[in-house]
Amino acid sequence: MASFHWTLTQALATGTTSKDLNSPRERINIYDGWRFQRWAESPDKLAYDKRSDITDERQLLKPWVLPSMNDFVLDPTRRHPIPTTSPDLSSVPFIQKNFDDSAWEHLSLPHDWAIKGPFYTEEVGPVVGGGMGRLPVQGVAWYRRKLTLDAADKGKSIFLDIDGAMSHAVVWVNGHLVGGWPYGYTSFRLDLTPYLEVGEGNQLAIRLDNPVASSRWYPGAGIYRNVWITKADPVHVAQWGTFITSREVSQTSAMLDLQVRLENKVNDTRELKVTTTVYEFDPSTETAGKKVATFPPAAVKIQASQTDSINSSVKLPSPRLWEPRQNQDASLYIAVTQVYSNNDNLIDTYTTRFGIRSVTYSGDNGLLVNGKHVRIQGVNQHHDLGSLGTAFNLRAAERQLETLRELGANAIRMSHNPPAPELLDLTDRMGFLVINEAFDCWEVQKNPNDYHLLFPDWHEADLRSLLRRDRNHPSIIAWSIGNEVGEQYTDVAGAAIAQRLTDIVHQEDPNGRPSTASMNYAKPDMPFPAALDILNLNYQGEGIRDTPAYAGLEGIKTPPLYPAFHAALPEKLLLASESAASLSTRGAYLFPVTNESSAPQTNLVGGGGDPLLRQVSAYELYTAPFGASPDKVFSVQDNNSFVAGEFVWSGWDYLGEPTPYYTARSSYFGIIDLAGFKKDRFWLYQARWRPDLKVVHILPHWSWGAERFGKVTPVHVFTAAEEGELFVNGRSQGRRKRGGSEYRLRWDEVIYEPGEVRAVTYKGGKEWARSEVRTVGEAKRLGLRADREIINGGAKDLAFVTLEVLDGRGQVVPTADHLVTFEVVSGPGEIVATDNGDPYSMVSFSSKERKAFNGLGLVAVKASRPGRVVVKASARGLVAASVTIMAR
Ligand code: GAL
Repeated sequence: MASFHWTLTQALATGTTSKDLNSPRERINIYDGWRFQRWAESPDKLAYDKRSDITDERQLLKPWVLPSMNDFVLDPTRRHPIPTTSPDLSSVPFIQKNFDDSAWEHLSLPHDWAIKGPFYTEEVGPVVGGGMGRLPVQGVAWYRRKLTLDAADKGKSIFLDIDGAMSHAVVWVNGHLVGGWPYGYTSFRLDLTPYLEVGEGNQLAIRLDNPVASSRWYPGAGIYRNVWITKADPVHVAQWGTFITSREVSQTSAMLDLQVRLENKVNDTRELKVTTTVYEFDPSTETAGKKVATFPPAAVKIQASQTDSINSSVKLPSPRLWEPRQNQDASLYIAVTQVYSNNDNLIDTYTTRFGIRSVTYSGDNGLLVNGKHVRIQGVNQHHDLGSLGTAFNLRAAERQLETLRELGANAIRMSHNPPAPELLDLTDRMGFLVINEAFDCWEVQKNPNDYHLLFPDWHEADLRSLLRRDRNHPSIIAWSIGNEVGEQYTDVAGAAIAQRLTDIVHQEDPNGRPSTASMNYAKPDMPFPAALDILNLNYQGEGIRDTPAYAGLEGIKTPPLYPAFHAALPEKLLLASESAASLSTRGAYLFPVTNESSAPQTNLVGGGGDPLLRQVSAYELYTAPFGASPDKVFSVQDNNSFVAGEFVWSGWDYLGEPTPYYTARSSYFGIIDLAGFKKDRFWLYQARWRPDLKVVHILPHWSWGAERFGKVTPVHVFTAAEEGELFVNGRSQGRRKRGGSEYRLRWDEVIYEPGEVRAVTYKGGKEWARSEVRTVGEAKRLGLRADREIINGGAKDLAFVTLEVLDGRGQVVPTADHLVTFEVVSGPGEIVATDNGDPYSMVSFSSKERKAFNGLGLVAVKASRPGRVVVKASARGLVAASVTIMAR
């Protein structure tokens, strides 16, 4: 057993220090003790750089921030000198040690200042519109916190590690400008050593500045990820300084190659010895298990104020290979690197979690993991956590992945930005394949204040930093350098940028994972795809506006382009990085229903949209104008077997981009709604991705009022069975068989009458599975169910409690919209957020009163310390419900 005894997850859960007792390295999550203030208009006459929305005179900070990227710029002549002068900060009291911030808000990190709202509800001209989620993300904020430097820490290197701050972060310590990082999704490190004094009085001050019109989705706002202080001997393993790759991987052995980059912050040469031992990762304790290999020790002489690397290789017998997993955790390893100075003094211990697997990318056969074909059944995920906003929470992220695992998804595309580092720890452990993505735009803007303003200065540093941070994660199978970038349209000029970014990927992950970029426009004969290692198509694979239902629409029209791409670039793996873009609201069914198997959503009769309620019908046939129903996507994929698979747009609903109703605030694209409730589509995908499950899902609900009596009410059944018979109140509506390119059973002529609808399905002529839906009674009572009855107290753990409005027999009333009040009636609990999955609700997520939406609601609860927490829900006219959660 290794001597270190901590893990990242434990450190997060307890908020404590992580430290190997034998080594000077220490990593402290500085989550508490922050003071915060935000202004919609800038209070300080500062700005990172000029911007079209800044019209007054500002002190520009960019020259002092640019040097922060220097470790990530390869060409020394392109690095940025530290300015010899200081900026004029006379108008900025917040950086001063003695500024009185006692009236500012006290809070803990991670923090998203915008999520509690209020929403901007104006239909015309809101300050922040539907695209960015109608929440107050804009403006300038300052975060201040005291830092203590113990006398024993004198002489150590002290770093500030910020996993992500939205956005344009600039950092001061004791009044000195240390540096910063503008791109809100990049993790970065600043060296505080020169500015700290022994004692408790060190003052950290961080300025963030979020422009309007800077994102196509809700970006969140604030220091929304974890922040750490790393203390280390001045001679240490550099930031993200280990890189472990495997080759010649088989069941019998694997060659592991290790690189360790060391940093010497002192003024003399140091002779070092570096050892690295490999242990199995034990998922139950999240620590090192059995020791399995030791890399031959390496020696290095490292010059004053320089960095240098050592390399070492070892053969590991009988490796436990990492692979995507449906039901159990994937196999991982931990490498413990120890650095000794010349007198055999241990000066650093650094751990690296990694996995061993081989991945093959084939134009004809798709993706092979450890030699076995794995069809990519993926989804796109944005970085927000619904009602919790973007403030990273490990449990909320895990919950998202658990639901996706249940769906049968085995892959996630991080659309369209670097994720929280802990999310990749989860995908490693839970066995998801990942496309990690750097940018949504390059030089060509999508919005006036988006990343195109930063790209010229920062793209190299942002991309290298992502690659170095994440390259040990076995879950990552590809690096996406961009999503639907405007450079697809600029021919050789755009392709040259793609090539430059691809070169960076190859430099940082040599012989490793391919570069890619998602193309919704570039065609096989253009120079753009030639610059990519593998081909990611958005919507073009299945064809855009190419069927009669879409004929009248404006915009690009293409036939399904998989064959043309495969013919032109046959050696390159091809996949759909975005497929479908189907639209629906959970539990909303609108009539009449289209006869097509895929149709654009419109507000016309039969178009699936209700512009007054801002709802889209959940028959799961309606799509964005450029999209396709799941059924159409499946059919085109099945006809092009060389395609490696798909990433559906999108897995969960997300904040912002409420296509087609921009007066709403969150998306309609998800297979799962914002609160985490399954839309009908869930079972359409599950039936395909987990065909062995006895899924027989019937829609719509069967609890209509008098206005539907005698009306045509189509019934669709999602199942992996090829045949089924439908009964309404025992009367057969016919036995149907799915045709070759059909992925649902549908009875479009059913006349509504209350009672029971039953579907009996058959495989190979034999009954396989059956299910029914019934007309429910009047709402009588509420029900509450916690996803976990035991959670960690005093921590960042959460219980997600589902509210159901029930009839007298305990059945969910699918149309119920009662106003419900949530409260913690006893114990150390606190309501963190409520939601119901309605994209058009403008009720603050922190409200404790919320309507049920189509029968359901959600409340997220945390406990401040161990104890028994009782949560209650009540609504006028209904029997109240309560649930007990034990916090340990
Ligand atoms: C794509 C884009 C995604 C999302 C999606 C649905 O074109 O890459 O970010 O916008 O459409 O609208």
